[in-house]
Amino acid sequence: MLKLGVNIDHVATLREARYRGREPGEPDPVAAALACEAAGAHGITAHLREDRRHIQDRDVWRLRQTIQTRLNLEMANAPEIVDIALRLRPHIVCLVPERRQEITTEGGLDVQADISALALTRARLNDAGIEVSLFVAPDPAQIEAAAMVGSQFVELHTGAFAEQFHDPTQRAVELARLIAAAQQARQLGLQVNAGHGLNCQNLTALHRVPHLVELNIGHSIVSRALTVGLTAAVKEMLALMQSYAGGIVAAA
Ligand code: PXP
Repeated sequence: MLKLGVNIDHVATLREARYRGREPGEPDPVAAALACEAAGAHGITAHLREDRRHIQDRDVWRLRQTIQTRLNLEMANAPEIVDIALRLRPHIVCLVPERRQEITTEGGLDVQADISALALTRARLNDAGIEVSLFVAPDPAQIEAAAMVGSQFVELHTGAFAEQFHDPTQRAVELARLIAAAQQARQLGLQVNAGHGLNCQNLTALHRVPHLVELNIGHSIVSRALTVGLTAAVKEMLALMQSYAGGIVAAA
């Protein structure tokens, strides 16, 4: 069964827009996480950025203590944040690139350029009992480098696929890249997650990608929650994911 991790950063973004530097503020990302779990989400994803623009340290500690599913901590390979992760002990860490000026995580990690530093952090996290995922573009060189780092997972960046979704030719190109990357990752012994820019419109097309374990989805679920509520938004996404059959799609 394809699992859903809900990224709750956007709930914290809304809180910080009004209450930056003040506690507790609203809305509460931990309450949102619990609602997602109650609606059937298999995990909660939160990105503790170095600039703390949305999720705060207190949020990740409360999430760790409160949620019943799995906490996926997204983070840069930065010493301060690695130290926090080693103390927090989330179930899994997804290492992502981080640029101060970006609105959201823009590209995948350049694993190839940073194999030894990533391998060191991967080993420290694994030694603390934390699984490690690397957020990468569906690029053969990056997948190969991820295997060299020794991570348990890669999370395939679906941003280009989502951006090109409305252009059938480009969508096919991006889908082919994701399919090839998932096959390569699996052959190299990596488990495969995916995320970024996924929504109710583009999700079904992603069913052609094999070996997917979990999708991490944030913006579209939180946006949809404004009109239908968080419970319904999570359930809608889960319903669309239910027919995933490991990349096999019934002919229309
Ligand atoms: N996966 C990773 C690694 C991300 O950085 C993000 C965005 O924070 C997501 C998934 C979720 O992307 P979106 O908010 O577009 O669904």
